Amino acid sequence: MSNSTKKIIHGISRRDILKLSAAGSAALILPWGSSSLSFAKKSPAIEHFVDPLPKPRVFSPIVQGQVIDEYNVFMQQIQHELHSDIGPVTTVWGYGDRDGVSSPGPTFEVSKGRTARVRWNNMLSADANEAHYLHQHYSVWDNIHGAVDNRKAVVHLHGGHIAAAVDGYPSDTILPTEFAEYDYKIDQQAATLWYHDHALGNTRLNVYMGLAGFFLVTDAVEQQLIANGSLPSSEYDYPIVIQDRKIKKNGQLAYHTLFDDSFFGDVAVVNGKAWPYLDVESGKYRFRLLNGSNSRVYNLQLGDGSIPFVQIGSDGGLLESPQEIYSLMLTPGERADVVIDFAYPGLNAGDDLVLINTQPSRPMEEEDEDPLLELMQFKIHSANVMQNVVLPATLSSIEKLSENDAVQERYFTLDDEYDAAIGDSKWLINGLEFDDIEEVVQNGAVEIWNWVNKSDMIHPMHIHLVQFQILGRYESVENSEGDLVPGADLGLDAGETGWKDTVRVGPKEIVRVIARFDGQSSGLDHELFPYHCHIIEHEDHEMMRQFKLQYV
Ligand code: C2O
Ligand code: CU
Ligand code: CU
Repeated sequence: MSNSTKKIIHGISRRDILKLSAAGSAALILPWGSSSLSFAKKSPAIEHFVDPLPKPRVFSPIVQGQVIDEYNVFMQQIQHELHSDIGPVTTVWGYGDRDGVSSPGPTFEVSKGRTARVRWNNMLSADANEAHYLHQHYSVWDNIHGAVDNRKAVVHLHGGHIAAAVDGYPSDTILPTEFAEYDYKIDQQAATLWYHDHALGNTRLNVYMGLAGFFLVTDAVEQQLIANGSLPSSEYDYPIVIQDRKIKKNGQLAYHTLFDDSFFGDVAVVNGKAWPYLDVESGKYRFRLLNGSNSRVYNLQLGDGSIPFVQIGSDGGLLESPQEIYSLMLTPGERADVVIDFAYPGLNAGDDLVLINTQPSRPMEEEDEDPLLELMQFKIHSANVMQNVVLPATLSSIEKLSENDAVQERYFTLDDEYDAAIGDSKWLINGLEFDDIEEVVQNGAVEIWNWVNKSDMIHPMHIHLVQFQILGRYESVENSEGDLVPGADLGLDAGETGWKDTVRVGPKEIVRVIARFDGQSSGLDHELFPYHCHIIEHEDHEMMRQFKLQYV
């Protein structure tokens, strides 16, 4: 068990990456402490590619009805083994049931047309007032809207087309010893969704502690593709969540004690393990990649970048056709469904292929203080092709939303502003906060939303309830009135042509998206849904607002 970095073939050196990332970037001073003094230590060295990649088990319903599957899920503090050299000592928060609790939590698998009825039990403490595991300086509680020093939780189904009452509204808090029961009526197409904590002001802490898992929706279209031998399935289908963590000498998770607007760990944790490996046969595998990190953006490649990913799906489901790509940018909250062919020309049994991240933690700085180059390793252990999947030319048909159908176009600036109350700047949307509800969307309306990034960093913008389509990504230019308007078309990634719920908005870019805001709760007068930056430190402070979906 000693596969360290020297055994990588198809590798790339760290120096190459640094060269790559420094090219064309200028040193800038960040508005907020970018490397807070409260937090400078590095994690102890941990050997890479020692532990196998875990696959989260699938939840089994406690009751299976005609259309309703019932689950009884606990949130619990557990001791977790991040790496076999550290041992099962790390305190994390997980989800689970009577068959066990884990982080990431077990995976839900639900078919379109069925309802998952989930009782979410907060068992993070027996004492409703016990302090949070990650102790924060008292000033943080005053400064973050809605934050408190307790173990409140609420579960959000990210990407779910569901009612606001079960969406995990940030203040629908479940305190320890309490529970909430949510009915998820699944009426959307097959997609890789995920569930994670969304407690107002505490989300970054709760997700960092481990409260996240997959929620896979399947449907007849996808099942037909699998039956036809057009998609890898079961043991050839892995959900993979990539997270970054900082670890203390005693094996415990480390996090800022003062507020910082970003977090970058130096340990790659994939499905809960530090730098794992996966034994693969030389055939095709489906990997549902999720960036479940708080702040880190990944630009993924396989080894030296000569082996492709074939992207087959985005946040909201299958693409129209498979897209061969050699690098894949994934911002927090985004998913990419990819197929990797370990029989690709040039790969042989016995080869190791490392999943690499070429994106620096803070691209605007000259040197990367917190690089995270290697993520996990694939070991091609047999020449046998155990299945013979042939990807089809067409995966699905996607109804193109037309600009002509849009009844509203809205603009949202993304920027940080000085807040006298806290004596520092904070990230906001249109300079407004969570309780400033200004956008009233008529149920069923098609709208165009423009994300106008005035800042020098990427913001992954996420809208609850809907899956949207990206109309374009542009350089922003100032017009004669001083407004920022779309300039040069920067184009979209191959994988950005399908349904999305989270989109990368790069420095000084304008990204236009279009969605049909179709609610699930006719009978109500209105519902409220959040939209926010998915850098969770930004979301908490407080780059999260809400729109009103108006039914009547
Ligand atoms: Cu995954 Cu409101 O977030
Ligand atoms: Cu969401
Ligand atoms: Cu942001």
